[in-house]
Amino acid sequence: MSLKQKKALRGQTLSFKGDPFVCGPEDSVVYQSDGIVVIEGGVIIDVGAASAVLGRHPQVLPEHYPDCLIMAGFVDAHVHYPQSEIIAAYGEQLLEWLNNYTFPAESRFGDKDYADHAASFYLDECLRNGISTASVYCTVHPQSVISLFEQANGRGMRMAAGKVMMDRNAPDCLLDTAQSSYDQSAALIAQWHGKNRCVYAITPRFAPTSSPAQLAAAGALWEKYPSTLMQTHLSESPGEIAWVKKLFPEARDYLDVYERYGLLKSGANFGHGIHLTDREIAALRQSGAALSHCPTSNTFIGSGLFKMADVREGAAGVTVGLATDIGGGSSFSIFDTMKSAYEIGQLQGYALHPAKAYYLATLGSAKALLLDDKIGNLAVGFEADIQVIDLKSRPLISERMSHAKDIWDVLFMQMILADDRAIKCVYIAGSKAYERS
Ligand code: GUN
Ligand code: ZN
Repeated sequence: MSLKQKKALRGQTLSFKGDPFVCGPEDSVVYQSDGIVVIEGGVIIDVGAASAVLGRHPQVLPEHYPDCLIMAGFVDAHVHYPQSEIIAAYGEQLLEWLNNYTFPAESRFGDKDYADHAASFYLDECLRNGISTASVYCTVHPQSVISLFEQANGRGMRMAAGKVMMDRNAPDCLLDTAQSSYDQSAALIAQWHGKNRCVYAITPRFAPTSSPAQLAAAGALWEKYPSTLMQTHLSESPGEIAWVKKLFPEARDYLDVYERYGLLKSGANFGHGIHLTDREIAALRQSGAALSHCPTSNTFIGSGLFKMADVREGAAGVTVGLATDIGGGSSFSIFDTMKSAYEIGQLQGYALHPAKAYYLATLGSAKALLLDDKIGNLAVGFEADIQVIDLKSRPLISERMSHAKDIWDVLFMQMILADDRAIKCVYIAGSKAYERS
């Protein structure tokens, strides 16, 4: 690699050297008030205090971002790109919301032009919000996956995604069968999994929309392609949980339905997980599977309060990612998402520390996708998906900054007050992919 291809970004830098839920906030974070990240060939090759790093790369002239925080791009651990168009839909809770808003919207994604446009819009909106990677639910149509991966490849983004498998309890036009869902998913895996930065996630929507035969097909598919991920929904609303009990009377609980079909292991990413029993929490931890916390969705659809302390703190130790869950979620902004996670904690007497919130939004979500050796941190050897956050993006924030006590106060206040206007630019694999105009 020639020196000409090296580039460096200079500003305040934030990276993780540990898990704040395990070692505590102070020992988990490395913050440099004047730091530099050096990138070559799309990968971070050096990071640290400017005084030290500059001497090691004398020919590189850094791009300077004063009053900005340079950190890894956000990772959205659970999102439905086809639902971008129904964000902020009034009046319903989960099952009615699916029937009245979600399924009609998803019915149009067999059309290539429609899906291409939606995928392009979605990925641009991710970049505007500093999101460089997401784990994406497409629709039942293979075209919806092809459009998403093509558009992601065009932007050089690392994306996980999969075709929704769904063979009952939805409109006919959105149903596949156990066999066709297996065959279509297998064809998509062959075409896309591991191509450039694409990762395939086997995606049975949730237990109520899959027959036992289809859940068995999903398990068989995962056994055949063990390097893929698996994503689905778990224990989101009381009505849904009661329905699952009726549909699968033999199961010990909701998680057991997935366990019985080989869908509970490392690489499984369960959205929501709000109303879990102690047994389910223990089984999640032992399996190495992850939960995705979808705070704005859980409040917007009225599903309930995620119990972060019970699943993540201390001995609980379940891997947790943070997620927008668009379009049940009400915002593309990860600042809004962290704020909502904080507020949900407060309603239960639990104050989510900013070190934990930013960890969940980056390396924690990367871990949920088994990508925490590649993305989610400013660290040597990591892919250079980096966002530059303007710490004075609005007059109120600027004023509040002038009273900030320390870096924790800065990080916390940004997660409560900032929005997409704070995202100054985003680098994808070291190339500038977005700049705020
Ligand atoms: N459960 C099954 N499908 C969905 C979905 O699209 N959104 C949410 N929030 N929950 C679901
Ligand atoms: Zn979801």
